[in-house]
Amino acid sequence: MSRSAHPAGPRHADVLPEGHYAAPPADLNQLDPRVWSRTVGRNADGVATVGGIDVKTLAEEFGTPGYFLDEADFRARCRAWREAFKGEKGGKGEGEDADVFYAGKAFLSRAVVRWLTEEGLNLDVCSAGELATALAAGMPAERIALHGNNKSTGEIERAVEAGVGRIVLDSFQEIARVAHIAQRLGKRQRVQIRITVGVEAHTHEFIATAHEDQKFGIPLAGGLAAEAVRRALKLDGLELIGIHSHIGSQIFDTSGFEVAAHRVVGLLGEIRDEHGVELPEIDLGGGLGIAYTSEDDPREPHEIAKALRDIVHRECDAAGLAVPRLSVEPGRAIVGPTAFTLYEVGTVKELPGLRTYVSVDGGMSDNIRTALYDAEYSVALVSRASTAEPMLSRVVGKHCESGDIVVRDAFLPADLAPGDLIAVPATGAYCRSMASNYNHALRPPVVAVRDGQAREIVRRETEEDLLRLDVG
Ligand code: LLP
Repeated sequence: MSRSAHPAGPRHADVLPEGHYAAPPADLNQLDPRVWSRTVGRNADGVATVGGIDVKTLAEEFGTPGYFLDEADFRARCRAWREAFKGEKGGKGEGEDADVFYAGKAFLSRAVVRWLTEEGLNLDVCSAGELATALAAGMPAERIALHGNNKSTGEIERAVEAGVGRIVLDSFQEIARVAHIAQRLGKRQRVQIRITVGVEAHTHEFIATAHEDQKFGIPLAGGLAAEAVRRALKLDGLELIGIHSHIGSQIFDTSGFEVAAHRVVGLLGEIRDEHGVELPEIDLGGGLGIAYTSEDDPREPHEIAKALRDIVHRECDAAGLAVPRLSVEPGRAIVGPTAFTLYEVGTVKELPGLRTYVSVDGGMSDNIRTALYDAEYSVALVSRASTAEPMLSRVVGKHCESGDIVVRDAFLPADLAPGDLIAVPATGAYCRSMASNYNHALRPPVVAVRDGQAREIVRRETEEDLLRLDVG
């Protein structure tokens, strides 16, 4: 089929997908600010820029594929979350401070830790590696929370020794283990207990975490959470500061949090009645959604903060409890929108009547989310503007697997050619942190761009890096 086979409309119109790509966008050159980071735009030549640098220059200097992170946007998002949780003027909880713990699993590096420290955020880590990164970059230990459903003795010892601000307990065994380690080290460790409140979050099964039949947390049902509290309160090595709930990820409405807060506060009421103790803190976890495509419409931090505060105040008023200090743990909502992945187009394979497969120089090794969660992404030609007609495309990687899809359905201009640069926005969260060496791919660098300066904060892997681990 020739490239002009459908002069009046998008090519392959007979196989148009459902959902956000049911029709091509009016202007393929437009970079929707909902999905691209704040400083992204196009220069007079039509080349996309971030932080004042164009993507062709970035590709020349750092190569492709690469993650390009908009540092100003990252910092602005940290500040927005921090400000929002300081308490709205005139709103419920005005002036009441709350803590924002950035969830390091979304993406962590020493530079990120320094930005968080400077912007007044705390940090949630869930492994020895994340803890080591946080401490190496100077995050004060009291601002760190340790998570995980199977923390090793070594991880617990390291965290207690370092003096982390809290350990979030996830099982009965761990309650005993942390108490024992803390006592042995002559410390009293501040802890929270993570409970599952039985909420069905409206998200992919693999990233929903508040229903009972899963590995995280201690169920509220059957009195298990109450029993966990009973045990923790008895142990000298532990200072129980609160209850934790995380209901899942990529959630857009606050109704799930409403149910979670209702049940968490209900437990606080039971604890007061049984033990005469009002626990001073609650943590409602992370999970706030971001825009991966123009169809997604996430809430702003101040709207989320207001909604959560209102819920907690209402529930506490009803239960006759003093309002506990609130904390939240956004990961994706802070880092997700701040980066895009830049790829070079290789093969462009048109399958007549179906779609065009656009192969890039990365794939499931730098973004597993499409294969793993059916995640939707957007994509744009960024090394030039184009007035060609829209072409229904599937952006695929170079791995030996047909499920190696980066963007399942997208419109790209029909004049797309090998050597063009395309970029996938909103890849700041869970892409580099879940990257693999499948097919011995070298994991791409993360380049921070700000005010006309670009620098690698995580360098590209080399063949030497790969071979260093292969001891022969
Ligand atoms: N707090 C806890 C206890 C968590 O388990 C998580 C995420 C977060 C906070 C941060 O959630 P966020 O705000 O980033 O959604 N790999 C999946 C996401 C797994 C999230 C695991 N826990 C993905 O790519 O969507």
